[in-house]
Amino acid sequence: MVLSMERWVDITKEEDILNTFKWIKEHLGPVHILINSAGIYKLNNLSSGSTKDWNDIFQVNVFGLCIATREAVKDMKANNVDGHIVHINSIAGHKVYDFPKANVNPAAKFAVTALAETLRLELNSLKLKIKVTVILDKIDFQHSRTDHKTSFGLYSPKVAALARRKDPLEELSKKLSNKKGKLFPIKTDVAKEEEILDAFKWIKEHMGPVHILINNAGIVRFGKYLSDGDTEAWKEVFQINVIGLSIATREAIKDMKANAVDGHIIHINSITGHELKYYPKVNVYPASKFAVTALAETLRLELNALKLKIKITSVSPGLVDTEIIPGGAKRHYATNTVIEPEQIADAVVYALSTPPHVQIQELTIRPIFDF
Ligand SMILES: NC(=O)c1ccc[n+]([C@@H]2O[C@H](COP(=O)([O-])OP(=O)(O)OC[C@H]3O[C@@H](n4cnc5c(N)ncnc54)[C@H](OP(=O)(O)O)[C@@H]3O)[C@@H](O)[C@H]2O)c1
Repeated sequence: MVLSMERWVDITKEEDILNTFKWIKEHLGPVHILINSAGIYKLNNLSSGSTKDWNDIFQVNVFGLCIATREAVKDMKANNVDGHIVHINSIAGHKVYDFPKANVNPAAKFAVTALAETLRLELNSLKLKIKVTVILDKIDFQHSRTDHKTSFGLYSPKVAALARRKDPLEELSKKLSNKKGKLFPIKTDVAKEEEILDAFKWIKEHMGPVHILINNAGIVRFGKYLSDGDTEAWKEVFQINVIGLSIATREAIKDMKANAVDGHIIHINSITGHELKYYPKVNVYPASKFAVTALAETLRLELNALKLKIKITSVSPGLVDTEIIPGGAKRHYATNTVIEPEQIADAVVYALSTPPHVQIQELTIRPIFDF
């Protein structure tokens, strides 16, 4: 059930929120989802603004959200509901932009960022299977492409799939043969520049202009610490995860530019590209993913400066059950919940399906109870 405020509620008044939850319980039943969307924005300066405006901003954007969240979680707990809390935040909750008269608005949104993560950790420690999601779309109002889904051919895509082993790709191509579109396997080692260039040449000649690039290839060389590792293994990780990704990105953008395609680049990043946890013997892997985070943002700023309407999205998964972990993630980290690869694919499709003026900058996808 989606919590629906079909009543007049002033969320600056705690009584109003409590009465609303009471009414919901009596008339609609248990709460399953809370979307904290209410927010206000008032323009004045920090050096001369009004205390009342600042209080109002915190009252609505922070305390109203906290009270509604507490009431929803209490209700979910009482009814054994594995619910979902969604905070509609803003990019201003992560970086202070040079907006005139912003006053306490970014501070309130930074508080929402902290509240979401504090709640996630609290729910983990309470072993409650309630999810927390923060939505902070980066909206780029300059974009004006229409019919985005069909212009990308998402409903009937021609996909070039690059990997070193051709057999699994051919199997995949067969498996998908009854679906719309077509998958073209191309044997490529992205550690070798020549092979990437050859792959793009083949794609241009046989498939036409590039619309979407998904940089998915990535490796981790387990087994050695930073204090005793092999230089060659470290270079190999960077060659594939960072340099290969950069070469493919450059070639895709050159092609999009030449064909006036408002395309989309997706980097399959990782949570370890944003924060460090101690996974023993992963050596330079987190460093390679931190580099991917920087590359995604550097590219976004570069594309803005070049006035190219190409989107860049970083998708950062937690533990996914794939071949990257020998024996599979489920066996290796038996105590953790693990994500299936299909759920990462869903996130990619979501990012690709957004309207032309909406750019999903970062998607973090964690298993529930991730620490
Ligand atoms: N699994 C996780 O828990 C997890 C978490 C966060 C992020 N990620 C990221 O997700 C991405 C996909 O990894 P995965 O988990 O799906 O691992 P995976 O099952 O090992 O798949 C890696 C893919 O990359 C390809 N690849 C590796 N080296 C290549 C090379 N030199 N040239 C061309 N293709 C190459 C592999 O194909 P070939 O071997 O045939 O070349 C394979 O298709 C990676 O960037 C990884 O860092 C994974």
